[in-house]
Amino acid sequence: DRPRPLVAGNWKMNGLKTSARVLEEIHAGYTPGLKAKVELAVCPPATLIASFARLSVGSRVAIGGQDCHANESGAYTGDLSAEMLADAGATYVIVGHSERRQYHKEKDGDVCAKAAAAHRAGLTAIVCVGETREERESGKTLAVVKKQLRGSIPVDSNSHNLVVAYEPVWAIGTGLTPTVADVAEVHALIRDELRRLVGKAEAARVRILYGGSVKPSNAAELMAVANVDGALVGGASLVSADFLAIAGAY
Ligand code: G3H
Repeated sequence: DRPRPLVAGNWKMNGLKTSARVLEEIHAGYTPGLKAKVELAVCPPATLIASFARLSVGSRVAIGGQDCHANESGAYTGDLSAEMLADAGATYVIVGHSERRQYHKEKDGDVCAKAAAAHRAGLTAIVCVGETREERESGKTLAVVKKQLRGSIPVDSNSHNLVVAYEPVWAIGTGLTPTVADVAEVHALIRDELRRLVGKAEAARVRILYGGSVKPSNAAELMAVANVDGALVGGASLVSADFLAIAGAY
C-alpha cells in the first residue's frame, strides 16, 4: 500500500501579507474528499509562516519553511533555526533545494546537518535531490542522485520525519519534464537507496515527491508513476486553482 501522498507548494521568494488570500482559497478548496486522498502543505517565505500557521488551524493544510540553519541558535545573522520555524507553527522544512545548493553553495553534508536539525526540532525534512542538465546528458543521473541521498539523509530518518523530493534541476521553472520512464527509474532508485538508509519497512512509507514544472496538465501523468508519492510544486503553487487541481490529480 502506498503512503498517503503529499502535495507541497514551495512559494520560493514570493508572497506578501496580501497572499493570505491564496492560502484562504486553498483552504476553501481543500474539501473532505480531497483531504481523504492527499495531504497538502504550503511553504511560504519565512515572514509569512506564523500568520499562515494561524490561518491554517483547523484546515489541516500544513505549513513549512524553505530552509533552516543546522544550529539551534547563535551568532548567525540573517539565519533561522529549525526551532524558530517550529515555534512559528511550521511542521515541514525544505532542505537542500537546488536553488540553495546553487546560490548558497550548500553541499550534501550541509543539507544532512540541516535535516538533522529539523528532526531535533520535531519537523519533517523535505530533502531535495536532482541532477543538472549536464549530468543527465552525460548519463550520470543515477550516480548523482545516489550520492546526494547518501550524503544528505541523516541516520535518524524515518517515514515520519523524512520526505524526499526528486527535482531535476533542468526541469525547475523551465516547463520541461522528464519522461515518465525517467521519473520511474529515478524514483525506484531512491526507494532502493532508502531501504539501505532507513530499513525496508520505513523505506516503503517514506513519501518520494516529484518536482519540476508540475502543473495541472501533467500532474495526473506524473502522479501515476510508481514510487511517486506526491509533488513539490513551485510556480503553480502560487495560483490556488492550479495547486488544488494538481492535488486533485490523485
Ligand atoms: O520546489 C519546487 C521546484 O523547484 C519546482 O519549481 O514547479 O516552478 O518548476 P517549478
